[in-house]
Amino acid sequence: MTSNTIEFILDNKIHRISDPDPNETILNFIRLKLKKTGTKEGCAEGGCGACTVVLGELIDDDIYYKAINACIAFLPILNGKQLILVEDLVSPDGKLHPVQNAMVKFHGSQCGFCTPGFVMSMFAMFKNNYSLNDEIITDSLSGNLCRCTGYRPIINAAKSLNKKTDNDHFKKLKKKTINLLNKIKIKNIEIKNENKKYFAPKTINELKKILKKESQVKFLSGGTDISLEVTKARKEIKKIIYLNSIKELDFIKNKNNEIEIGAGTSLLKFEKYIKRFYSDFGVVLKRYGSVQIRNVGTIAGNIATASPIGDTLPLLLSLDAKILLDSAKKRITMPLNKFFISYRKTKLQEGQFIYSVKIPIYKKNIFKAYKISKRFDDDISSICGSFNVEIFKNQIKKIKIAYGGMSEIPKRALNTEKILINSNFTERTFSKATKSLEKDYSPIDDMRASKSYRMEVAKNLLMKCFLEVKNEKLLRLT
Ligand SMILES: Cc1cc2nc3c(=O)[nH]c(=O)nc-3n(C[C@H](O)[C@H](O)[C@H](O)COP(=O)(O)OP(=O)(O)OC[C@H]3O[C@@H](n4cnc5c(N)ncnc54)[C@H](O)[C@@H]3O)c2cc1C
Ligand code: FES
Ligand code: FES
Repeated sequence: MTSNTIEFILDNKIHRISDPDPNETILNFIRLKLKKTGTKEGCAEGGCGACTVVLGELIDDDIYYKAINACIAFLPILNGKQLILVEDLVSPDGKLHPVQNAMVKFHGSQCGFCTPGFVMSMFAMFKNNYSLNDEIITDSLSGNLCRCTGYRPIINAAKSLNKKTDNDHFKKLKKKTINLLNKIKIKNIEIKNENKKYFAPKTINELKKILKKESQVKFLSGGTDISLEVTKARKEIKKIIYLNSIKELDFIKNKNNEIEIGAGTSLLKFEKYIKRFYSDFGVVLKRYGSVQIRNVGTIAGNIATASPIGDTLPLLLSLDAKILLDSAKKRITMPLNKFFISYRKTKLQEGQFIYSVKIPIYKKNIFKAYKISKRFDDDISSICGSFNVEIFKNQIKKIKIAYGGMSEIPKRALNTEKILINSNFTERTFSKATKSLEKDYSPIDDMRASKSYRMEVAKNLLMKCFLEVKNEKLLRLT
């Protein structure tokens, strides 16, 4: 069944909109149409958290509360979800929510601009976690910026939260909300709004039918990159196919020493899984944007942007990942190192989409990855280096090295690898190899870092990898 009407829960009722503008952001809808102005606009590019709202989503008959940036999310993605705004936190009898109470008690509410966003991130954290600790708190709040008196009182407010007080009206109404979510979750969406079209198929078969009929479509997954074409570049996106409505694309499998991640898997879900196999992958992903970004952003979206500073790309390249590309005609497999052509250009053809990514599990290897950025949290890399090495009897048997931020595409350091393979695992070998990085890369020069800084840091990261592996149990250079 296909419908032109999106349905979502707002204020405990089903809210319906027929043929909404597919380029309208949730933030504009809230502020301009609903006239609810608690949710603020700061940066309009996902960087400050002032616009944070929470989406309630049905997962295994329970509700998962997802903090997102409303400024970079398009309205139709609300279909099938519950939209929770800061105005909804006060209970029907006028009592503040426990997270609001904590903010008042610990003087966490400092200015009216950032506070609603902080409250919403804290609300999602409070609802999703059975217990709280420092790591969960700093991670949950890392996407919300405060530039006045600081984070201490806000963090203290979060620390004071006790799950025993989770008897809020969302808990009391949970059964009703789940019933409503079950009622609205099953349609394909097809919207026509003036010159714009939006499709949200439920299955890959439906997607392929659309691809047979439509040309010049743009895929939308988490929207944390593509939405900026509208909010920042002020362009229109005329034809959108939303992929995150397809459940079949949201999976992680582990078979034959290979992990396969479906294109629609969120970066947050991927982070939780991959860190068991490659802990440094988890460390880099923790610093990828914010929880709001990782809640919706996908690994396929990161690959398809082909950004030279895309964080997962050097890591996937050094792990020799493959991607599965699908279309209305056929599914093919391609090594990731053959996928990038030039600056933000890939081999993806019209109508072709990324179905999944396959990452080999190397049991004998040591994997190291480092992200260097100006700010620790919620910042884009200046350089990202990744190293996958197999050593036997102090000899380097195999090594794969890749960097982001060092050329117009993320790529392997093939000359440097050649020098290292079959050499002794010594400081002298690595020191010599650092020089060959100059043959492998001619770094970009931009506001994030100069060319010479990038080259210097790339060399240092290679040495850092050597030192950490050599002194494995003794040292972690941060
Ligand atoms: C505040 C902020 C912080 C960020 N921080 C980081 C960071 O730390 N590190 C980093 O690497 N990036 C960062 N990004 C960039 C962005 O999050 C990533 O590029 C993200 O992975 C994109 O994924 P998405 O699912 O949101 O893609 P979308 O925005 O939905 O799509 C991006 C592109 O990929 C295409 N696409 C999406 N899915 C598919 C598919 N299955 N098949 C084919 N094409 C597809 C789209 O058509 C579009 O061209 C940040 C962005 C913001 C706004
Ligand atoms: S307004 Fe800054 S993250 Fe949305
Ligand atoms: S709370 Fe708004 S700048 Fe600090």
